Amino acid sequence: MQAWIHGERLHLGAEAEVNSGSWFGRPAVMKIRQPRGWRHPDLDRSLTKTRMNNEVKLTIWLSGIGAPVPAIWDVDMQESTIIMEKIEGQTLIDILHAGKHTDELLKNVGKSIRILHRNAVNHGDLSTNNILITENGDAVLIDLGLSSREYELEGLGIDLHVLHEILRASHPSIGDAMDLVLEGYSELDIELGEPVAAPGGLPPSAIDVVKRLEQIMKRVRYHGG
Ligand SMILES: Nc1ncnc2c1ncn2[C@@H]1O[C@H](COP(=O)(O)OP(=O)(O)O)[C@@H](O)[C@H]1O
Ligand SMILES: [Mg+2]
Repeated sequence: MQAWIHGERLHLGAEAEVNSGSWFGRPAVMKIRQPRGWRHPDLDRSLTKTRMNNEVKLTIWLSGIGAPVPAIWDVDMQESTIIMEKIEGQTLIDILHAGKHTDELLKNVGKSIRILHRNAVNHGDLSTNNILITENGDAVLIDLGLSSREYELEGLGIDLHVLHEILRASHPSIGDAMDLVLEGYSELDIELGEPVAAPGGLPPSAIDVVKRLEQIMKRVRYHGG
């Protein structure tokens, strides 16, 4: 049996190409990080490697503890390719554009983000393209190339702020979307209790991160950035 069988191209972005296919018969995607021409080739290669390393390490660790990220099945650092589980569903941006979002689904987005934060992982690029919604309305987080370990309120607050700004700018009609995300985010700590120590320290509570987000929003309003 051939390991990887190529399907169709799903996405061609500035930094990566994503193709669907199958891996030992299971629905999979292959993400190829492509060095782009406009940067210096050496710098380019090292940035590509750093991001891929990040993505692979933290995604594997998170999927191992049952967090909502795709399972990674194969990695080729030389070719800059990752083969991972295909998440059947739609990006949050497509769901919002189609008006198919529900309160429950938006709360699930907050819950999934909180699972990362409870485990001291900052996603680093929480755009509506990097959140996949499954048929059941669960949220899976992808594209962890800019993720990092984070124990400080500010870093986690900024992670939420990025999503808030994107929702506000691109989906202004969905006024309470972020409120629902934050509701789900906070509810998870009520369900699971305060976070416990992760490798390297104690992650902040959901209440404290949401308070920090509010401060960040005020700062941005007064100072414009
Ligand atoms: N595991 C996956 N399952 C299904 N679709 C995926 C998966 N990974 C990526 N995609 C699709 O490919 C797009 C780009 O992938 P992403 O990892 O975000 O690359 P980029 O770094 O270029 O943003 C996503 O927005 C999503 O539509
Ligand atoms: Mg992306």
